Amino acid sequence: MSARVSLTVAAPERLPLEPARQLRRAELCTLIIFGAGDLLHRKLMPSLFHLTADRLLPDDFAVITVARQPLDETSFRAEVGGAIKTFLPNGADFDPGTWARFAAGLHYISGELDDPLTYQKVRERLADIDALLPSGRGHLFYLAIPPSLYAGTVDRLAESGIAPRVPDPKQRPWVRIIIEKPFGRDLESAVALNACLRRAFAEHQVYRIDHYLGKETVQNLLVFRFANSIFEPVWNRQHVHHVQITAAESVGVEHRARYYEEAGVVRDMFQNHLLQLLTLTTMEPPVTFSADAVRDEKVKVLKAIRPITPATMHDYSVRGQYGPGTIDGKPVPGYRQEPDVGPDSPTATYGAIRFMVDNWRWQDVPFYLRSGKRMTRRATEIAIQFRKPPHLMFPLPEEHTIEPNTLVIRVQPKDGIALRFEVKAPGVEVKLASVDMDFGYAESFGDLGHDAYETLLLDCMLGEATLFTRSDEVEAAWSVVDPIIDFWANKRPDHFPNYPAGTWGPPVADEFVAREGARWREP
Ligand code: BG6
Repeated sequence: MSARVSLTVAAPERLPLEPARQLRRAELCTLIIFGAGDLLHRKLMPSLFHLTADRLLPDDFAVITVARQPLDETSFRAEVGGAIKTFLPNGADFDPGTWARFAAGLHYISGELDDPLTYQKVRERLADIDALLPSGRGHLFYLAIPPSLYAGTVDRLAESGIAPRVPDPKQRPWVRIIIEKPFGRDLESAVALNACLRRAFAEHQVYRIDHYLGKETVQNLLVFRFANSIFEPVWNRQHVHHVQITAAESVGVEHRARYYEEAGVVRDMFQNHLLQLLTLTTMEPPVTFSADAVRDEKVKVLKAIRPITPATMHDYSVRGQYGPGTIDGKPVPGYRQEPDVGPDSPTATYGAIRFMVDNWRWQDVPFYLRSGKRMTRRATEIAIQFRKPPHLMFPLPEEHTIEPNTLVIRVQPKDGIALRFEVKAPGVEVKLASVDMDFGYAESFGDLGHDAYETLLLDCMLGEATLFTRSDEVEAAWSVVDPIIDFWANKRPDHFPNYPAGTWGPPVADEFVAREGARWREP
């Protein structure tokens, strides 16, 4: 039997955060957000407020929100204040002084996105702000609107002249645009949206968001791999048996069923977040830490992923949908009982897919990716499972199987990295025990409480595009998942629901990995 002991890595000396952050203070700019829905209230405004508290936004920072609701600015500010109090990241205070500074820069324009008058109002407000405040301000447009409105809004913006093409990345003042996910719903629509953006903007002006890339541990993956020399020599097919990438959520579809019914788990999580984790885990070392060098390497991985053909789809993929169950001791409804979901909905809320990366480093190493809603608990992690020793000289009882070394990169919660290895348990006999060497961000650096959106907004204001996806990268990711989506769409599942809420997914997913000698971890 193997015991489990936890060794915690000593806390390193803390880095002087303040000066480091000041270096990253955003350039002078005004942010124009289209849409005042969930994203604005839950993520964007709390993130901007927190950046203001940390003095990372420029002086006289202004945000113009453009949405349909007829609201005056006082009511809009009150609404935003309430949202910030509710959704501020852990540990951040709602400081009245910060709020006063932040609220002074909040503007609201009500208007329809297809009405030229709306853009005229934005132009006038931008001119007013630019006239009053220090000149040379960049203009950052953010599309926080339903994806079906992206192309039309980009066209209107271009026609209005308020968001001109700026061919030279060094030209000031700059103009940039952020597009939320989902970027298209398949390869064809992503190509069309890229073409639409290309007509209006130069590629360096376009920032496609995948919020996973702003998460601390995701960024640390690159530092961990390429700023240490001891892991790289074993990061390949000679030493790695397989890799498991899990993004498990305990929440259900919440109030987003209208979107989710159209999307399903592969569009919602695999095309973007999970494939991003896969590319960062497998890419070759870029020559420089620059946006294009990093993204070039990621695109190479996406292009090396072996296509899953209809004939092999059952061997390489499993889908599921949650039924009623229990989470944290409370009964929860099944997916088909959620608001706005039909009683025989075929939408998959769980997926497990085996990918192979056909290149020298990764040939024959399976990458098992899985994601599901209403699973036992929330956990996102990358687990690299190494090969077992080729020969075991210790006399062990017959039933004892040695645990392989596993390196786990925990993205959330409890962000950190753990390495499991075997030791001798104390005593006169030779008994093996598995122990974890565990580094936790919070224990070592304190709870930074910064949301991924803060990192990404700031990066965009600084013109730093490494953590955003390039047009060819989004298209390559769609090429990987499109055959899976098409195959599943053409075969109605007659076995849904096939996992109760509060479990680790359908039992068939266990058989799926067991066929190749693997076992899902329980994060
Ligand atoms: C979003 C998906 O992109 O990511 C959601 O649309 C999902 O369905 C969310 O819940 C998960 O993000 P996080 O940061 O909570 O892991």
